[in-house]
Amino acid sequence: ENGLHPPTWPFEHYGPFETYNHAAIRRGYQVYREVCSACHSLDRIAWRNLVGVSHTVDEAKAMAEEVEYTDGPNDEGEMFQRPGKLADYMPAPYPNEEAARAGNGGGLPPDLSLIVKARHGNADYIYSLLTGYCDPPAGVKLAEGMNYNPYFPGGGIAMARVLFDGLVEYDDGTPANTSQMAKDVVTFLAWAAEPEHDTRKKMGLQALIVLSSMCALSLYVKRFKWSYLK
Ligand code: HEM
Repeated sequence: ENGLHPPTWPFEHYGPFETYNHAAIRRGYQVYREVCSACHSLDRIAWRNLVGVSHTVDEAKAMAEEVEYTDGPNDEGEMFQRPGKLADYMPAPYPNEEAARAGNGGGLPPDLSLIVKARHGNADYIYSLLTGYCDPPAGVKLAEGMNYNPYFPGGGIAMARVLFDGLVEYDDGTPANTSQMAKDVVTFLAWAAEPEHDTRKKMGLQALIVLSSMCALSLYVKRFKWSYLK
């Protein structure tokens, strides 16, 4: 059974010449850190990836240092704990799948690194999912511990609604309503799944400009050179 088809939401990065809203990426990281990272890993993003995108070097370093990483073996052959560095990847909430399932009533929270690309409907779907929780329609019975969400294929999802108005406090003063946090975290996850997005569009535009001016130039030269032949 398919989920409800999500509408197209007006994300700022939609459209051929638009870049990501980087203030939204920054707020979205905060939502990921304070809410989603309790259950979801983000394996493919390192602290250094945030630098120049949503945070300064110093901010990213400071955030990395707050996390303890296991490293080693050292010269004595022992593993040891050390504060994080820019090169470290985002810490995962659970050591393995068994622990993740045990913490979520049997459900498995997927890694969110590529989720925006991996799900049909992309950013629109994730936004609709996060904001779409409601009571099940009459006659729909959910298994123990499941939650109703019309956008989730099948309707019953192991993840409960997690976003509620005022859950986080943004440092740029943006009011944190449910839809704002959903928009921000989805923008952050869209960036995580496609960090090269802004460069891709810029390069595409440059290619278009260069190729069309070369085309115009060669047409002009061709007509000029052949103009004496009737
Ligand atoms: C599944 C996003 C917070 C537990 C998912 C899915 C997404 C997602 C996109 C996949 C849905 C699909 O398969 O189509 C998020 C975001 C969060 C968040 C953006 C923060 C805003 C949490 C939290 C928990 C959690 C805090 C645990 C308390 C789960 C579980 C599943 C899941 C167990 C698997 C659901 C199933 O397959 O039935 N989440 N999540 N999530 N999430 Fe979250």
